[in-house]
Amino acid sequence: MTKRVAILISGSGSNMVALAGSMAGDHPARPVLVVSNVPGAGGLAKAQAMGIPTAVVDHKAFGKDRASFEAALAEALEAARPDIVCLAGFMRILSAEFMARWQGRMLNIHPSLLPKYPGLHTHARAIEAGEAEAGCSVHEVTAELDGGPILGQARVAILPGDTPESLAARILPWEHRLYPAVLRRYAAGDRTPVLLP
Ligand code: GRF
Repeated sequence: MTKRVAILISGSGSNMVALAGSMAGDHPARPVLVVSNVPGAGGLAKAQAMGIPTAVVDHKAFGKDRASFEAALAEALEAARPDIVCLAGFMRILSAEFMARWQGRMLNIHPSLLPKYPGLHTHARAIEAGEAEAGCSVHEVTAELDGGPILGQARVAILPGDTPESLAARILPWEHRLYPAVLRRYAAGDRTPVLLP
C-alpha cells in the first residue's frame, strides 16, 4: 500500500522539493499535501508547480491561542489522511499533545549532529565550540524538542574560516540527500539509520 505523506513547511521549501521529487517510480510513498504556517512561503508555489495540493494555517491569525492553531493544523492534515508527516523547515514548536497524535509517524530534519545542538543557531554554536564537524539529522518527532530517535545523519567537516552561512550552504545539499533516503526506508517500514557520506 503506497504511503500518503504530508509535508509541513515555513519557508523556501528546499527540503520539501527534495522529498516530493524523490517520491516517484517504485518509491513506497507519495506526497498528498504541503502545509505552511506562513502565507506566501516560497515553498507553497514550488509545491503547486509540482502538482501537490497546498494549505495555509497562519499561526499569526491565532495570536497566543496555540491550541486553536494546532486544532486547525490537525484538521488540515487529517483531511489529507497522511500515513506519515514530514517537518521540513517547519519553524513552529508543536505541543506534546499535538506530537502524541502523530507519534511514530512524524519526521523532522534538524541542521546539527543530534543530540548535539538541538534548537536554533546550530552552525554558529558548532563553530563557536570549535567542533571539527557538523551536519544534519533526521529524527522521529517526540514530545522532546529535536529529541526523538535518530533515523539518519550526514557529517560535514567544519573548515577554517567557516561562517554559519558558509557551513549552512555546504550542509543543505546533504539535507536534500539524507531526508529522501530516510523517508524511502521509513515508508517501507525500515528504521535502519542512514549514515552519510
Ligand atoms: C534547513 O536547514 C532545515 O534543516 C532547517 O531550516 C532550513 C530551511 O530549509 N530546519 P528549507 O529550504 O525551508 O527546506
